[in-house]
Amino acid sequence: MQQVNLGMIGGGTVGSGVFHAWQKNGGLMAARLGVQLVFRKIAVKAFDEPRPYPIARDLMTTDWQEVVNDPEIHIVIELVGGTGIAKTMVLAALAQGKTVVTANKALLSAHGPELFAAAAKSGVNLYYEASVCGGIPIIKSLREGFVGNRITALYGIVNGTCNYILSRMKFEGADFAAVLADAQKLGYAETPPDLDIDGHDAQHKTGILASLAHGFWVDHHQIHTEGIRDVSKIDMEFAAKLGYTIKLLGIVKQIQSAAANRAPQIQVSVYPALIPSAHVLANVNQVFNAVFVRGDVVGDTLFYGRGAGKDATASAVLSDVADAALDLKNGTKVRVPPFVAHVKKGRVAPLDEVTSQYYVRFSVVDKPGVLAKIAAIFAAAKIGISSVIQPEGHEGESVPLILMIHDAPNAAMRKALAKIAKLPVVKAKPVMFRVENLQ
Ligand code: HSE
Repeated sequence: MQQVNLGMIGGGTVGSGVFHAWQKNGGLMAARLGVQLVFRKIAVKAFDEPRPYPIARDLMTTDWQEVVNDPEIHIVIELVGGTGIAKTMVLAALAQGKTVVTANKALLSAHGPELFAAAAKSGVNLYYEASVCGGIPIIKSLREGFVGNRITALYGIVNGTCNYILSRMKFEGADFAAVLADAQKLGYAETPPDLDIDGHDAQHKTGILASLAHGFWVDHHQIHTEGIRDVSKIDMEFAAKLGYTIKLLGIVKQIQSAAANRAPQIQVSVYPALIPSAHVLANVNQVFNAVFVRGDVVGDTLFYGRGAGKDATASAVLSDVADAALDLKNGTKVRVPPFVAHVKKGRVAPLDEVTSQYYVRFSVVDKPGVLAKIAAIFAAAKIGISSVIQPEGHEGESVPLILMIHDAPNAAMRKALAKIAKLPVVKAKPVMFRVENLQ
């Protein structure tokens, strides 16, 4: 049986998870693929760094260059993370003609085109299944399973930390700050938590999904991103009364161009949105991830699973290793290529140009004429109100006033809210979340 040799850079939690999964199922993979996968070297930070599973001592080195420069190694697995040394490592491995498997979403997000160009120059592939949603095979599904579809919409719960926090806020009626502090104590959220809760991790993943789905590279700077710091218990409660659940979504939507010959346009955003509580996506809870994909041929599909963790990530890495090994076995570098920019003039529409529906909560003085003043500003901006709720039982200087708003451009909504915020009867910055009905 043909043998394909593996080298790995990173021997901590995920790296030891990959090694453990290979020990467990390497034989099964050989039977399925007709290729013997053999680990030759694993570069680690330190031989005795803490790791959940042991790694064979004789495979370990503390010099990553030994992995990259070993002529016997065919596939290099990069699990270092970040955009610094990891970039040097990946480029060095590609330059040596090695296929690279990476879990590094931040690296791809920041340098995707450069890395894919380097892979093409060396005639090898760069695989990245583990970079988005851990164990969910969403990259392979978009690339191969949906190759015969245009992806008209994609909504992803792609950050487990945020989903855990929002789930607990919903089910326990708890405040954001309290749940975050508890999540950090339990090890579900990092300290500092910014990368996750400010939406950056979701932004990296959403950009990768958007690029793959639409065939042109979406730069992370083009992705309007909001995190979950402003989601409050009170909005969770009002959303629930209206039949909605608040989730942090990565959103990729095809936008109809007015003229048929205009370049393809997409919305790519990350923000907390109200989604119908009856929808299956609203019932993805705790640390789980899910991606809802709509194809113009297949219709609606849903992928669900663990988005992080040593074992889920190992599953994704091994799937890439299998693809890379089959490329080598069959002497073909490309079946459906990992990424190919096939759309020349694709455009990410700025959020201001995108139309959304909205939930808005105002804190207002409880006296006659307040609603009329707010409604007049919306009317002047040609923004339609679909429903109004002023819950009873709130006393004090200000009371909540909740408005659901019909489809309106984000720019018009932003300007109208700025005007409303200046009304003397409005006592706090208006709270606004978009509504995604997933239709
Ligand atoms: N921190 C991420 C999450 C996992 O919470 O989903 C790694 O991307």
